[in-house]
Parts: sequence; C-alpha cells; structure tokens
Amino acid sequence: MAKRTMNLVGHMCIGPTMHHAGSWRHPESDSENSLDPARYERLARIYEAGLFDALFLVDYLGITDWQQNARSGVLERGGQMTMLDPLQMLAVMARVTKHVGLAATFSTTYNHAYQIARQFSTLDHISNGRAGWNIVTSGQVVEARNLGLERPLDPVRRYDQADEVMAACNALWDSWDADAVVADKQRGLFVDPDKVHHVDYAGAMVKTQGAPTSPRSPQGRPVFMQAGASDRGRDFAARWAEIIFANRYDKAGMKAFHDDIKGRMADIGRSPEACAVLPAIAVIVADTEAEAQARAEYVDSFTTPEMGLGMVEVSVGRSLKGFPLDTPIADLPVGPSGPPARGVYDNMLAMRKDGRGLTLAEVAVRKATTWGLPRFVGTPASVVDQMQELFDERCCDGFIVAQPLSPGDLILFVEKIVPELQRRGLYRTAYTGRTFRENLKSALGGA
Ligand SMILES: Cc1cc2nc3c(=O)[nH]c(=O)nc-3n(C[C@H](O)[C@H](O)[C@H](O)COP(=O)(O)O)c2cc1C
Repeated sequence: MAKRTMNLVGHMCIGPTMHHAGSWRHPESDSENSLDPARYERLARIYEAGLFDALFLVDYLGITDWQQNARSGVLERGGQMTMLDPLQMLAVMARVTKHVGLAATFSTTYNHAYQIARQFSTLDHISNGRAGWNIVTSGQVVEARNLGLERPLDPVRRYDQADEVMAACNALWDSWDADAVVADKQRGLFVDPDKVHHVDYAGAMVKTQGAPTSPRSPQGRPVFMQAGASDRGRDFAARWAEIIFANRYDKAGMKAFHDDIKGRMADIGRSPEACAVLPAIAVIVADTEAEAQARAEYVDSFTTPEMGLGMVEVSVGRSLKGFPLDTPIADLPVGPSGPPARGVYDNMLAMRKDGRGLTLAEVAVRKATTWGLPRFVGTPASVVDQMQELFDERCCDGFIVAQPLSPGDLILFVEKIVPELQRRGLYRTAYTGRTFRENLKSALGGA
C-alpha cells in the first residue's frame, strides 16, 4: 500500500474575503477584484501549483446580515459574503487548470436531485473528472426566507431529505452506462438506447422518474464533501462523505471527531480510507517567528466586532440587535429552530480565554479573524511541526486550508509550507491521479 500523505483542500469564497473578515482592507488584498473571473483563475492556478487535492467554494443562499430584517453590519463593514454562484465560477477555473479538484457547496434542502445531478455531471465533464460537491443541508432563517419559507425545515428532516437526494442523484448518475454514447456516423447510431437506464426513485420527499440528459461523466459522480457535526450530520457524513470538513478548534477535539467518524464508518462497513477527515486551519507563515506574528497582527488590525456579529447571528440563528457586546456568549438566546449548525454553535460555546467563556464581542472578533479555527503562525518548520503532529497522531488525514489574506497568504503557503511538507515526505511531489477522486485516494494510502 502507498505511504499515507496529507490531503490538502483550499477553502475559498466568492466575495471580498476568503475567510478573514478584515482582510479585504489590507493594502495587498485582491478584494477589489471580488467579481472578476480573472481573480479566481489566478487563485485556481496557485492551488494547482501547490498540488492541492482541490479547492472548494463555500456558499450560502443569503446575506448573513439579514437576520429577521435587522442589519448587523456585515454589508456595511465588509466581511464574509458569498456573492456569486459557485458552480459557474468553477467552470471558469476548470478552463485554466488540469489537475486541481473543483468543489462547490450546494444545498440538498433547496435544489431538486435532478438539477443537482445534472449540474455536477456538467462540471465533471467540463473539468474532465475534477468535480466535487460539498453537500449541505440549509438551516439558516435568512436562506429559508429567501426561498419563500417562514423558517427552515427541522434538522432531522433536512438530513432525511438529504439521504433521499443522495440516493436519487446516485441513481441518476448511474443511469447512463460509460459506453452509452456511440456517435457512429457510418451506422447513424448516436446513443445505444439499451445503455441508458430508466430511473424510478420514489422516496418520501424526493421523487424522480426518467433519465438525465447528461451522459456519464469521467468520475461518474462528484467527490462528496460534507461538514455536518450534529449526531445525525455525522451519520450522514459517515455514510456518504469522501471528505469531511471538520471545524475543531484543538487537538483533543480533532482526535475525538476523527475517531468518532471513522468508528461510524466502520459500523456501517466502510473502510477508514474511504473518507478523509480534514479539520480547517489557517496558516500565517514567514521566515522568522517575529515576522509571522507581525503579519498576523497587521491583518487582524483591520477587524472590528461588527464584522463578526453577522457570523455569530448565523451561529445562534437569530438577530442579536440590542444585546450589549459584553454579554457572555452562553447567555445569548438561540433562534426558534435552534442553532442552524450544531457543530459551529458548540464550538463557539467551547471557546475559552483565561479559563472563561467568551463575550459576544470577543466571539465576534474571533469569528471575524479566524472563525474560531486553529491558526498556526510561525516559520515553515514550526507550522509544519504542528501540522505533522496532528497528522501523525491520526487526529486528521490532512487539512482544509483557509488562508486569511488573499492572495498573499495562499502564495506563502505554496512557496514555504508545501516544500517543507514535501521535504518531510508528508505530501505529494506531483499529481499522480487523473481525477480528483484518484488524487484524494492515493494520498489516503488506498490506491
Ligand atoms: C466547517 C463548516 C463549514 C460549513 N460550510 C457551509 C457552507 O459553506 N454553506 C452551507 O450552507 N452550510 C455550511 N455548513 C453547514 C453544514 O454543512 C451543515 O449542513 C450544517 O452544519 C447542519 O448540520 P449539523 O447540524 O449536522 O452541523 C458548514 C458547516 C461546518 C461545520
């Protein structure tokens, strides 16, 4: 079996910031090109130069500012926004790259399985086998309202629906045999009709009958990513995911989450190599510790609590207008349907400073700068020491790399961290697979 090496997936957002809410104001930020496809082409090439398994685009169907129509300041002050449709931008990025996987966040709550299957099959064709799907169940009030509902479906129902969407999508993706398209001009035979199979899927919530328009794509189906952290979300991930985007803020949390997911996979007969558990981290690297610290402090200096307030509101699922900034986070009420994403909410409660829980202002700043995720600041050697410890002790199979400043921190990661990982034999030195899935599996040691 091949040696186990790290999987790396880049975390991106189509908007002024990738991850760090204040970073758009940094003089070196490329945020003025937020809507320009050329920015995303350039970033995709950098991820590919760094031999990343994939990059993926986070997405929400709403502006986090608009909890119960009360504006929190995200639009005004700038911050985390998903401004354009991810699949269309990935098609642009596919045209200027050859190897890097291209994954989009897409909701099972608000898209029919037929449309999902068709869109990702299209991306897989366009990218020649590099499509990935970050499968989300949408729990935010702002999203529900945008989509014409008063409130989101309850979490268990959302996951039941997601299971049905997955089953329906898989049936659709398998409907065309790989050799169905004959395109024989002599015989006048375009598609062998016996090789396109009728789909008849009828779940309690999702139904589809017929056949998709798109022929089987190079990978057959996109690589499945997932980020649910609730009990039901973990079961869903253990069943379907090939990559799990974990948001654990410390080593013990990462280890517990990793072992829990692999245990759930074993319970249903999936091998542990079938899914990479990747906690998100941010890295700020420079040639000296002092330089790296100064870089971190400078980018953080552009952040205010107002930039993170919207993210806290999203985490609790309600407007926090009127709550003083020094309110302890545990005293804040949650929305009528509970926290939209359990894992995100639990992480917030678990954040500590001087042994105590944080206030609203402190959480807002932490969210705005790091999302509360681990941030490794230092030299290539000291950063890679921390990554290696987590990897070697099987707290994870690699990382989601969420870089604060675009494009500077990504470029530095590729120039300084990647060679150090390679020098230690922890990371690939070339792409070996043809597809996103093949590259992913070769690093996991399963190919
Ligand atoms: C680290 C992380 C990143 C996420 N990114 C997104 C996203 O970009 N878009 C989205 O709609 N949901 C996102 N989610 C929400 C989840 O994918 C999931 O649907 C939600 O957390 C509800 O499941 P849970 O209660 O099991 O956590 C994210 C969740 C986590 C933990």
